[in-house]
Amino acid sequence: MNDAVVLEMKNITKRFPGVLALDKVQLTLHRGEVHVLLGENGAGKSTLIKTITGAYIPDEGEIFLEGKPVRFDSPLHAQKLGISAVYQEFNLIPELDAAKNIFLGKELMVGKTIKLNSREMYRKSEEYLETIGAKLNPRIPIKNLGVAAQQMVEIAKAIATDCKILILDEPTAVLTNQEIDRLFQVVETLTKRGVAIIFISHRLEEINRIGDRVTVMRDGAYVDTIQVEKGKLDTDYLVKLMVGREITNKFPKINVAIGEEILRVEHLNRKNVLKDINLTLHAGEILGIGGLVGAGRTEAVKAIFGADPIDSGEITVFGKKALIRQPKDAIRLGIGLAPEDRKVEGLNLGMSIKDNIIMASVDKISRCGVIGRRKRTSIPEGLKDNLRIVTPSINQMVGNLSGGNQQKVVLAKWLASDSRIVIFDEPTRGIDVGAKVEVYQLMNQLISRGVGIIMISSELPELLAMSDRILVMHEGRITGELSHEEASQEKVLRLASGGI
Ligand SMILES: Nc1ncnc2c1ncn2[C@@H]1O[C@H](COP(=O)(O)OP(=O)(O)OP(=O)(O)O)[C@@H](O)[C@H]1O
Ligand SMILES: [Mg+2]
Repeated sequence: MNDAVVLEMKNITKRFPGVLALDKVQLTLHRGEVHVLLGENGAGKSTLIKTITGAYIPDEGEIFLEGKPVRFDSPLHAQKLGISAVYQEFNLIPELDAAKNIFLGKELMVGKTIKLNSREMYRKSEEYLETIGAKLNPRIPIKNLGVAAQQMVEIAKAIATDCKILILDEPTAVLTNQEIDRLFQVVETLTKRGVAIIFISHRLEEINRIGDRVTVMRDGAYVDTIQVEKGKLDTDYLVKLMVGREITNKFPKINVAIGEEILRVEHLNRKNVLKDINLTLHAGEILGIGGLVGAGRTEAVKAIFGADPIDSGEITVFGKKALIRQPKDAIRLGIGLAPEDRKVEGLNLGMSIKDNIIMASVDKISRCGVIGRRKRTSIPEGLKDNLRIVTPSINQMVGNLSGGNQQKVVLAKWLASDSRIVIFDEPTRGIDVGAKVEVYQLMNQLISRGVGIIMISSELPELLAMSDRILVMHEGRITGELSHEEASQEKVLRLASGGI
């Protein structure tokens, strides 16, 4: 590794109304290194990188690029200086194809004319995609690509600017293991060429795989920078630096008496998507659903919830045959669904935390359609404290929260709703290690009230530790059921790949 310093940041401070998001933060970035940024939800990671990409201008502090003082005035300016970022939320235009996105704002012209040189743009796009090992046709519109492919287009777009610094904000949260392997290969190719990478992730095991150094942040402040000795990293120590305390029990599952059957799904079918899904759920039970991304788990719960159509199948709720045509029907029957894609289905970003949390429970706490003002405030306040949602006030707009804190609001919404059946789709995705424990504790509270939980999870340790029973899916069908006692990583993985 070449130790030449590419970027140096000193005393970076950034304030938002009521929030000190960055408090004299420092960061030194070396050529060709993978520098991991670590910190709890709301610690300031995304804000820090936005001051490097010119999206935010720091209130105080200095930035040096290759030894020279700079001020990144705008994203375009930062990009011209060789800085590119792939954000938690992608920045692609869905209607345009990959090549048009890659060359957006820097279109190639024919000679000195104003005629677009499309041929050259498609040829170069192919070349960029090939460099990073993505087998992908640059003529396909973005909206027809999966997340992993979209991410590859984002990275291709970044290297098309010949960047010196590439920032990846939680790139692995949405990828399958195979896709993660491929991404890490791309990262290696780029660092060999001297590109410095800033990498954000809540998955600590990834630091050992690709990290060279780690900078830990807490509450908007710099804590420490640590050299990674591959394979020897003490993740418990990192967690302590991150959250300021030790986490002894990562999975505090309690066992409550499993009660009556509250949900029964029989022979649920949807052409090309779901094949004969059968399941039951009991009061006080956590039913885990494992499987690889794309196995049909999300489709199955959405079908149960009435958000996706079905061709055939029967659903029985609390012993009565239920007709669920749309989510409203499910909610009326006491079923809640916290979806995996919070941006699209889970939240209204323009509304306050308070109103988002109350939204799902309007029927329950209103008398004559009017929600008592006290309840309207006390329930969200309590959940904000319980889940440690980082914000100055529950009146804050959800769109202003950090990624992980938005996810907590999705959970809070259904925790507040008094639903008796709650479905969580990847509940702890993007949530930091400390807050995960809080989420599990809230699940404990739910099951001790007799609520039944269905939890889709791709995190095997979480699935194994928190589920009373696990169903595993593969290509739209359930390939097996394991009790808490008999379940193991190997067994789940075997069923997830279609084996028995
Ligand atoms: N535009 C904004 N307006 C107001 N507050 C903001 C804004 N952007 C960020 N914040 C606040 O700044 C703090 C830091 O947020 P940031 O997004 O940097 O956290 P993060 O470390 O990236 O967290 P996560 O792991 O959840 O993504 C949070 O308290 C957040 O609510
Ligand atoms: Mg973030």
